Amino acid sequence: EHPTDAHFLFTFVFKQALTLQSGKTDTITAQNNCMKTFAMRLKKAISLTLALALSWPLCAQQKMDEMWNGGERVKSSDTSMGRGKLFDYGNYAMFIHWGLYSKLANVWNGKTYYGIGEWLMNENMANAAREEYKAVAHTFDPKDFDAMKIAKLAKDAGMKYIIITSKHHDGFAMYHSKCNKFNIVDVTPFGRDPMKELSDACKKLGLGFGFYYSHNQDWTTPGASGAPRVDEDGNPKTFDDYFYAKCLPQVEEITRNYGDIELVWFDTPGEIPKKYAEKLVETVHRNQPKALVSGRVGYDLGDYRTLGDMEVPPENMDGLWESVDVTNDGWGYSWYDRNWKTPKQILENLISTIARGGTYMLNVGPDGMGNIPEFAQNALLASGKWIARYPQVIYGAQASPWKHRLPWGDVVRQDSTLYLAIYEWPSDGKLYLPGLKSEIASAGICDGQKTLPVSFEKRGNWTVLDVPYKKPDNLVSVIALAMKGGEISVDNTQAVDPESGIDELSVVFADASGCNVSKTSWMEKFGEWKHKYCTPDLNRGGKVTWTVDVMEPATFSVDLTLRGEGRGVWKVETDEAHTAQNQQGVSSIFCKRPIGWISFDKPGRHTITVSMPEGGKPSELSAISLTPVRFE
Ligand code: GLC
Repeated sequence: EHPTDAHFLFTFVFKQALTLQSGKTDTITAQNNCMKTFAMRLKKAISLTLALALSWPLCAQQKMDEMWNGGERVKSSDTSMGRGKLFDYGNYAMFIHWGLYSKLANVWNGKTYYGIGEWLMNENMANAAREEYKAVAHTFDPKDFDAMKIAKLAKDAGMKYIIITSKHHDGFAMYHSKCNKFNIVDVTPFGRDPMKELSDACKKLGLGFGFYYSHNQDWTTPGASGAPRVDEDGNPKTFDDYFYAKCLPQVEEITRNYGDIELVWFDTPGEIPKKYAEKLVETVHRNQPKALVSGRVGYDLGDYRTLGDMEVPPENMDGLWESVDVTNDGWGYSWYDRNWKTPKQILENLISTIARGGTYMLNVGPDGMGNIPEFAQNALLASGKWIARYPQVIYGAQASPWKHRLPWGDVVRQDSTLYLAIYEWPSDGKLYLPGLKSEIASAGICDGQKTLPVSFEKRGNWTVLDVPYKKPDNLVSVIALAMKGGEISVDNTQAVDPESGIDELSVVFADASGCNVSKTSWMEKFGEWKHKYCTPDLNRGGKVTWTVDVMEPATFSVDLTLRGEGRGVWKVETDEAHTAQNQQGVSSIFCKRPIGWISFDKPGRHTITVSMPEGGKPSELSAISLTPVRFE
């Protein structure tokens, strides 16, 4: 009836299975035939459960992904009452994951665990005993915590608001909660309320402020999802007990005691009964009429849509939505995790999220002393300096009329001006813009307040701009196109750039027949999510066809991004009957595999069809890449 039930039953049966399997059947002694039969039947049932249990880690991965799903189903964005102005205009926010897990830094009993640090307690990571984990609070004393320093970092990074974990899945409140003693003021030597200090600092600097709150999962509060169903005295506890004794009062506290807040970021609704989610939404809207509720509250009740972790969508989406991403590989601080995003990667993800129509919230994980890692700060400051040079590319910028990124970068719009954000500057002095049908009044390279004019010419469906060989900006260069008023119309056929070809054009843009295209999500390390669209069944006679626009006759080498088992034969065929066919081995990790060369004899639209002519083992095709072959 409730996830905790399932969890509890599973644990009980699992333990019995282990006992029985180990042959120590003193707990179940067969006194006579009847008992023997019962014992055999029970043994069989438990063995089956054991087999299921051993697949648990995989289920846990999928289950964690499933737990977000409410976030993707928000029916419509609620911008009434002026909600979401900062969210929609600012387009860029700081996410902060900070708690007891930050002090542990992914180490438990001297062992390092690899995955998202705020799940260290969980059975998929260290499986820490609850009371031992809770005892970490007694030495949690982040003496270096400096709210103004953090708020200033967010401001200098170009972010418009901060969302910080008030209570994560571990149940520990990082603010002074009056309804539950397990909080930073009552049980730590730190004894201060950092949320109060941070909300004040944000207000001083003109930043928005809001909270993350884990409403369904609370691993240390009996009755909550992921916690025992009995308290330390053995009294039964229900979700209702947890909800009315802790969850609801705490959401009242965080929406009453910290001034105006931008949003409440509920997370992993799992199977929380709808009535509780409704009550939380009503509470937030009552106490904070201008605050947004995240889609992960569940049941389509959010004011905006939250994508899966670390996901930037390949094509435009309407309404209010956000991508949440990490500066390294996880949310909470991990001592080993130095896989930082560079300033250029941050800018590309930020700009391409805005170009898809969304808001980008980027996470930092302060350590147990309250310090944000130096590298993360440096990357945020460098990208922030870029934003200060090109604020028009970020704030108030609207989605790209192309509805997907282009081979060399992406496009955002401000009224009748298009800003081309060029991630890869061309080497031959020409920038190729496909499909623009509206007329350009003027074009220029943005250089601070100045615009350095560039000339351009139409070539069929393409606009070719003459640009300097030296890239104007080491991170992302920007060209402004002032359009001749009115609606901006484009032919958004996927384009193969004469200079760079096309890199990993997703199968989501292809037409599939006799096979399916679906999104697959997986964890590299626990909690480190990756997402791709792919065809899980191309080996059954199906095919996928991309339609692309080619500016001039040319030859390209073709790679397919594949995942699967063993070897397969893939065939690539164009509408001009140019084909390339090859056998390639594939592995359990998506990687590019060369298939061969194809040519286009005429400029204009072409189709490229991929199939597996000999069938073979299940293989997933996720993208195609075309690299120009230079003959001179
Ligand atoms: C997932 C994780 C959680 C993290 C959140 C951030 O829901 O469970 O630990 O806070 O992603 O998006």
